[in-house]
Amino acid sequence: MTIDRETRLEFIRAAYAKQITAAGGVTDRRVEAAFAAVPREAFLGPGPWPILRWDRGYATSPTRNPIYLYADVLVGIIPERNLNNGQPSFLAILIAAAAPRAGEHAVHVGAGTGYYTAILAHLVGRRGRVTAIEFDAALAERLATNFAGVRNVRVVHGDGARVAFDPADVIFVNAGATRPADSWLDGLTEGGRLILPLTTNQGFQGPESVPIERRGVVFRIERHGDEFPARRISAVAIFPCEGMRDPGSEAALAAAFAKGDGGEVRRLYRHANLPEERCWLRAADWALAYA
Ligand SMILES: C[S@@+](CC[C@H](N)C(=O)[O-])C[C@H]1O[C@@H](n2cnc3c(N)ncnc32)[C@H](O)[C@@H]1O
Repeated sequence: MTIDRETRLEFIRAAYAKQITAAGGVTDRRVEAAFAAVPREAFLGPGPWPILRWDRGYATSPTRNPIYLYADVLVGIIPERNLNNGQPSFLAILIAAAAPRAGEHAVHVGAGTGYYTAILAHLVGRRGRVTAIEFDAALAERLATNFAGVRNVRVVHGDGARVAFDPADVIFVNAGATRPADSWLDGLTEGGRLILPLTTNQGFQGPESVPIERRGVVFRIERHGDEFPARRISAVAIFPCEGMRDPGSEAALAAAFAKGDGGEVRRLYRHANLPEERCWLRAADWALAYA
């Protein structure tokens, strides 16, 4: 019996979805199903592809066979800027933490060419929608082409901290900021979830001597009225978020990492009128506190 190419890829994608969710400890079967359904090759241009191999930098995939994309690898989108399609097991963890549900509105900041936008679109389904925002003009154009005619995805070229969007159940930020944008906190619905990578200036390609746990961290922040419960999800090294690199908050973040990895943070405050000892991070007008 011969199996056609698309059926073979469906099997490969299903195995990949199981492997990368298991690697990330993600147990949500909807997330696994989304990774099994979305073709990664549709978002990364024609192969062969530059695949990041940690021991030797980017290595071109041996052929154009999409099988090389169905591993837990980062793939260069603009390798000369170290701008990558993120690591699937890590993004699966973040997407599971955001928990997009059918019918919801998700905002994706730093969508790149859209692979993870498509995963979000799958999770919110036809009754839901995704607003995908990309700062880089050429990438935004590729993003728009990739979602032409897709009814539940709106593509916007611009700064994800300044573009206006409808209230969002999920705001998924895929670039390293030094603080939450007001528009992200204001833009969450009641019960909405913000996935926020915070990185120091050493966060992206900092010296090996500083461990990644002391350079960048991802928080999940939920909105309940004016309250913002927060918890650490993971360490991170990620491409910087344009327009969201504030020196005061960067210094506060660097000072916070000197105390620990942020694992004891429980709440975000939109002011800093808190005693220092209650805070992991205290900037001029916001704080991440232990209670
Ligand atoms: C780490 S890349 C991730 C791309 C994509 N999420 C992926 O994994 O394929 C970060 C992306 O964020 C974009 N970006 C940076 N600052 C941004 C901003 N203020 N608003 C929107 N996009 C931004 C970059 O241009 C880049 O495409």
